[in-house]
Amino acid sequence: MTIRETRADEAAAIVALYPLMFPDEDLRPLVSALIGGGADVVSLAHFEGDTPVGHVIFTLGEGGDAALLGPLGVLPDHQRKGIGTALIEAGLARLRAANLRQVFVLGDPGYYGRFGFSEEKRIATPYPIPAQWRSAWQSLVFAEKEAIEATTLHVPGPWMDAALWNG
Ligand SMILES: CC(C)(COP(=O)(O)OP(=O)(O)OC[C@H]1O[C@@H](n2cnc3c(N)ncnc32)[C@H](O)[C@@H]1OP(=O)(O)O)[C@@H](O)C(=O)NCCC(=O)NCCS
Repeated sequence: MTIRETRADEAAAIVALYPLMFPDEDLRPLVSALIGGGADVVSLAHFEGDTPVGHVIFTLGEGGDAALLGPLGVLPDHQRKGIGTALIEAGLARLRAANLRQVFVLGDPGYYGRFGFSEEKRIATPYPIPAQWRSAWQSLVFAEKEAIEATTLHVPGPWMDAALWNG
């Protein structure tokens, strides 16, 4: 398995994965902005040869104390082989090494729970989310660290779009 940080000259190939991984929503503007320099991110891809088949972004914020995980996707033909797990674990290891305190995600608790994420009840999402998604807003505090003090998670510009949060 080859997982590494993506390069600027791979942005088009990475963005092109998204309609295949998320056929029902267009995440290309968000991903283009995030990996195109619009935010401080950790962008990791899983490669088969020179071809990316899975990708995850961790957006850094809160003065470098926290990150937001997402989007995460693996091409349909490559799912259920551990690639998503490996991408998350590689990202969390980097963030832990960079001394972050807390990582947030809006996603399926059945998936993210296995990495230690649990429902975030204190720190609010940047925009309101539908009530039925409440348990999908999760965070993980790294061992030996304390949760950040914010009451609302502050995220960089590309994430400041209500449509990304309200379904
Ligand atoms: C979610 C996703 C990234 C998982 O990637 P993956 O490489 O298939 O995941 P892994 O192989 O590491 O793990 C697969 C396990 O996760 C489970 N899983 C996959 N998607 C899940 C989900 N939405 N909820 C709960 N469990 C899920 C599978 O059942 C599987 O477990 P099992 O093999 O023990 O039964 C991938 O399915 C995907 O890209 N989906 C479309 C995009 C998407 O929904 N991304 C998540 C946005 S928050």
